[in-house]
Amino acid sequence: MVPWTTFPQPALTLQKIYLDHNATTPLAPEVLEAMLPLYREGFGNPSSVHSEGRRARVRLDEAREQVAALIGAESREIVFTSGGTEADNFAIFGVAFAPGQKKRHIVTCEIEHSAVLNPLKQIEGLGYRVERLPVDHCGCVDPERVRNALTDSTVLVTIQHANSEVGTLQDIERIGKIVRERGILFHTDAVQSVGKIPIDVKSLPVDLLSLSAHKLYGPKGVGALFIRRGIRPLFSLICGGGQEKKRRGGTENVAGVVGFGKACQLAAERLDRGEAECLKEMRDRLWGRIQGSIPGAELFGDPNNRLPNTLGCGFEGVDGETLLIALDMEGVSVSTGSACSSGTGLPSPVLAAMQVPVDWINSSLRLSLGWGNTPDEMDRVVETLAQAVRQGREKVFPGQAG
Ligand SMILES: Cc1ncc(COP(=O)(O)O)c(C=O)c1O
Repeated sequence: MVPWTTFPQPALTLQKIYLDHNATTPLAPEVLEAMLPLYREGFGNPSSVHSEGRRARVRLDEAREQVAALIGAESREIVFTSGGTEADNFAIFGVAFAPGQKKRHIVTCEIEHSAVLNPLKQIEGLGYRVERLPVDHCGCVDPERVRNALTDSTVLVTIQHANSEVGTLQDIERIGKIVRERGILFHTDAVQSVGKIPIDVKSLPVDLLSLSAHKLYGPKGVGALFIRRGIRPLFSLICGGGQEKKRRGGTENVAGVVGFGKACQLAAERLDRGEAECLKEMRDRLWGRIQGSIPGAELFGDPNNRLPNTLGCGFEGVDGETLLIALDMEGVSVSTGSACSSGTGLPSPVLAAMQVPVDWINSSLRLSLGWGNTPDEMDRVVETLAQAVRQGREKVFPGQAG
């Protein structure tokens, strides 16, 4: 066995600056506190009639209310899932395969997460027609294109709320209105936006909305699908016992769900205090300083309409992967493109769809801020990044990097 001390251990000696909150967030201490008793003594099965079971049921119901409250839903409109991926799959297969449903056309956009694109690819193999709408150079879908794409055989439109790589927000209010006027169901993947910006399904014209706990300081492996009351019954992806009102079988992940509920309650409190504005200020300060000290830096995404925590950018003439590693060695965690699809070796499909030239795509980084970050950290990140860019350019253009 190789002794662990033979591996480089910079992270053990440096205090890390974590700027990858769109990949995942640390568990909030209050969330952990809420979950631990469920593992220790609150182990009951919510379907059991005895007191342990009844206690677990109460906790499950409380959590459902907390999740619902964050997005303005009714608690019966929340179905717990194993995460955002399952929620997206449930929305797509659930609508497409609903009992008696005969329509075969689905509209989406090119920059969806793979949790949407891959089930749609599967469904294409079953004879459904999937239309992937293009986006502009900011990553926005034109709502009029959505209108023009709808046909009498369209059963579902699924357009994300926020993009995980560049943070661009879609005009889901206008898109949803157009879609629902035609009596078509509208799903939005809001995994990246829930908890980062206010969302209220009472006024938002969506029928289905996906959430994930680990993007908002909750545990991994828990999520939910909001299903608006009154829409036709969906096909159940997971059949078993009658849990989740027969919409999703399987003994509930009570501790995870309780953690999710607590995370939603905390997110609602932060949003009420206007802390999204603080994150935005910190993100803009970071970008301002990058621009001021690193020549050849380019912003990706919609400059005016994106998640308050997200900064997608590129650095001319340097490889993003090289930057990521250099930053990691110096104690700063960032990502190139989406963590979920990195490792494929392919240039980011999101940036490609936004017509970003391939050299710039290869130079791209995503810095996604969270509640634990401080303005001082942003200044340290800029220093480290400037040095990494200089060194990267020096390798490519020896003697010329400024
Ligand atoms: C937009 C979006 N949708 C869905 C997912 C998948 O969520 P989960 O990791 O909970 O399965 C992610 C995760 O990165 C995401 O960013």
